[in-house]
Amino acid sequence: MNTNISKLDTKNPTQETLLTPRFYTTDFDEMKNLDISSNSEEIVAILEEFRVDYNKQHFVRDNEFLQSWSKFDDKTTSLFIEFLERSCTAEFSGFLLYKELSRNLKKENPLLAEGFSFMSRDEARHAGFLNKAMSDFNLTLDLGFLTKSRKYTFFEPKFIFYATYLSEKIGYWRYITIYRHLEKNPQFRIYPIFKFFESWCQDENRHGDFFAAVLKSQPNLLRGWESKLWCKFFLLSVFATMYLNDTQRSDFYASIGLDAKKFDMHVIIQTNKSSGKLFPIILDVQNPLFKELLDKCVINNDCLVAIDKTQQLSFIKTLMKIPYILNIVMNLIRIYSMKGIESQKDWNIIY
Ligand SMILES: [Fe+2]
Ligand SMILES: [Fe+2]
Repeated sequence: MNTNISKLDTKNPTQETLLTPRFYTTDFDEMKNLDISSNSEEIVAILEEFRVDYNKQHFVRDNEFLQSWSKFDDKTTSLFIEFLERSCTAEFSGFLLYKELSRNLKKENPLLAEGFSFMSRDEARHAGFLNKAMSDFNLTLDLGFLTKSRKYTFFEPKFIFYATYLSEKIGYWRYITIYRHLEKNPQFRIYPIFKFFESWCQDENRHGDFFAAVLKSQPNLLRGWESKLWCKFFLLSVFATMYLNDTQRSDFYASIGLDAKKFDMHVIIQTNKSSGKLFPIILDVQNPLFKELLDKCVINNDCLVAIDKTQQLSFIKTLMKIPYILNIVMNLIRIYSMKGIESQKDWNIIY
C-alpha cells in the first residue's frame, strides 16, 4: 500500500544557488497597460483552447503508483526526490507568477488576465501532481513556506515574456523527449509519472503559444537589432542553465537510460528551432564550437560545486570560486559572440 500520509516528512527547500529554479515578479502596472489588441484574435483563439481544458481528467494517480518504492536503492531514491523537488518548484514558481499576474490584471487587462489564470490552473495541477509523487518517497514540499521564504527575482514585463516563452517551450521539449524515449525503451520507465508526460507537455506547448502570441502583439520585441540581442541573450541563458544543471545530475538521467548531454543537446536543438518561428535570430547550436564552449563551462562549474563541498570558511570559498566564475562568464560571452542564425527570412506568417 502507498505511503501513510500521517508519516510524511516535510522537506526543507534545497539551498538556493544560481542554478535552482527561481521565483519571479514583475512590474504589474506596466503589464496592466500593455496593449495586445494588434494580435487579440490569436490570443482569443488560444484562450478558447485553454477553456476546453484537455487535461482536466489527466492528472489522476492510477494503480501503478500504489506500490512500495522502497525497492529503489538509496542513490536512486535521492536522485528521484531531487528530480521531483526541482520539477515541483519550477512548476510552482510558474503557478505563483501567473496567479499574481491574473489577479493584478483582472480589471485593466482582462484578456491577458484570463490567459494567466488558465495557465496558473495548469501549473497548480502540475506542481500538485509532482508533490503527490514526492509522498511516494515519504516527503512533501511545504509550498506555503516556499512561497514566503523564497527570494523573488524582478524581471521587466518584456523579459518575463522572452523568459517564460522559452521556459515553456523548453519544458515541452524536455517532457516529450523523455516520454518518447521511454515509449521506445519501457525497461527504463521505472516510475509511473513519466507516462503522464505526453499530455502534460501539451499544456506547456500551449503556454508557450500564448506567450508567442503576446510577443507578436509587441512587434518591437521581435524586430530590430535590440530585440536580436535580447533573443540571443535569453536563448543562451535558458540553454546554459539547463545544460549546467543537467550535467550535474547525469546519474538521474542515466537511471532512466538517458545520456544527460545528448538529451540536453537534443532539447536545445529542438527548442532553438521552435524559437526560430518567433525570434528574428536564434543561436548556431549545431556549430561544434557551441557544445565545446558549454562543456568548458561544465568543467568550471564542477570546480564550483567541489569548492562548495569543502569545509572552508565562506569568504575563502568565494575567493576560490572567482577564477572559475570568470572562466564560465568568458565562455558564455564567446558563445554569445558566435554568429547567430537569422530566422526572420523563414517566417511564413507576416504580422
Ligand atoms: Fe507546467
Ligand atoms: Fe507551463
